[in-house]
Amino acid sequence: MKALCWHGKSDVRIDSVPDPKIEHERDAIIRITNSGICGSDLHLLNGFMPRIEKGDILGHEPMGIVEEVGKRVPGLKKGDRVVVPFTISCGNCFFCQKSLYSCCETSNPNAEIAKKALGHSPAGLFGFSHMLGGFAGGQAEYLRVPFADVGPVKIESDLPDEMVLFLSDIFPTGYMAAENCGIEPGDTVAVWGCGPVAQFAIKSAWMFKAGRVIAIDRVAERLAMAKNHGNAETIDFSKEDVYTRLQEMTKGRGPDRCIDAVGCEAHASGTIGKVADAVSSTVYPSDQMHSLNEAIRCCRNGGTISVPGAYAGSADKVPFGAFMNKGLTMRSGQTHMQRYMKPLLAKIEANEIDPSFVITHRVKLQDAPEAYKTFRDKKDGCIKVVIKP
Ligand SMILES: NC(=O)c1ccc[n+]([C@@H]2O[C@H](COP(=O)([O-])OP(=O)(O)OC[C@H]3O[C@@H](n4cnc5c(N)ncnc54)[C@H](O)[C@@H]3O)[C@@H](O)[C@H]2O)c1
Ligand SMILES: [Zn+2]
Ligand SMILES: [Zn+2]
Repeated sequence: MKALCWHGKSDVRIDSVPDPKIEHERDAIIRITNSGICGSDLHLLNGFMPRIEKGDILGHEPMGIVEEVGKRVPGLKKGDRVVVPFTISCGNCFFCQKSLYSCCETSNPNAEIAKKALGHSPAGLFGFSHMLGGFAGGQAEYLRVPFADVGPVKIESDLPDEMVLFLSDIFPTGYMAAENCGIEPGDTVAVWGCGPVAQFAIKSAWMFKAGRVIAIDRVAERLAMAKNHGNAETIDFSKEDVYTRLQEMTKGRGPDRCIDAVGCEAHASGTIGKVADAVSSTVYPSDQMHSLNEAIRCCRNGGTISVPGAYAGSADKVPFGAFMNKGLTMRSGQTHMQRYMKPLLAKIEANEIDPSFVITHRVKLQDAPEAYKTFRDKKDGCIKVVIKP
């Protein structure tokens, strides 16, 4: 089959690779119909994630048609249409039993590598480096899905693929980000970033009864989407000082809840930060903490910071004194996908939301390497790419 493979920093290609096969009785093989490119894929493309290897197949936002199932996948049969979550979870372990699916303690075969880096291993993820299992991803014609009795959600209605595809990652991720804020009715929620994850965090903040949502980015069409689709007020961080503006907007108190939907490749707004990032990235890419640091500084005393944005290594110069003295709370994590997919599917079916609003680009698999660059460079109004193998 054809698949999008990582070959090095800024180098992804379409390769011919062996078709995946059932390897375990809880596996399924899916023929991919639609597959998203995520901001997390850019961290892999840009070399921010450790232990990615030449030839690894990327992609963790897939859906498609079941081709084959192992003996112990009672809920699925050939021909079923399914959305596959990016987290691989066994359903039985200590963490899965607590619905902490992204912390599954059995699904990462390379747990020892993760343990050395992180202290404990999280779940295996599709298309996400060998530290998180080295599982082949879904930007391909076919995908092997381990624990297929736990992960994939069957779509039985006639909703088009594009309306349900983002149940694979970014809708649940934005939703968990808002939930992790502990929003009280009427709260002001500030969201750093206006990428796809942020767009769903904004929509979800309203679902949790926010009184006001303020979105921060520097890319005009992303800010426009936050305003027009997300009903958010916006701040362009390349034009205004975010701290000053947020204080003005909140009578000097700061937003009650802050969401960092940017992650480890945040851009600095000032020259000093930009120079420091350039210097440190010549040695090895290290996490760029600008959005999280700004959120900590801006958040009101006793407020909450939610971090869906992905980080990989160690953070330099996080204002921990502000975090402690202001009495802030922080929550984070890869999304506990299986907890959210069915309830959020019900919201789509009830017409509460149509997640396809984020899609700006649709491409064939052979054109995906070019689409990675368009998405990375924010060219051509690109906000979300869907690959159609
Ligand atoms: N926790 C999870 O399970 C999970 C799931 C999916 C994605 N993610 C992560 O969420 C993050 C966002 O994903 P995405 O697909 O929306 O990515 P994206 O790259 O499309 O969007 C990031 C946005 O942040 C903006 N930005 C950069 N620096 C900023 C700053 N200092 N202040 C404000 N905005 C800034 C960029 O202009 C861009 O629009 C990534 O880190 C991704 O890895 C996490
Ligand atoms: Zn993702
Ligand atoms: Zn588990």
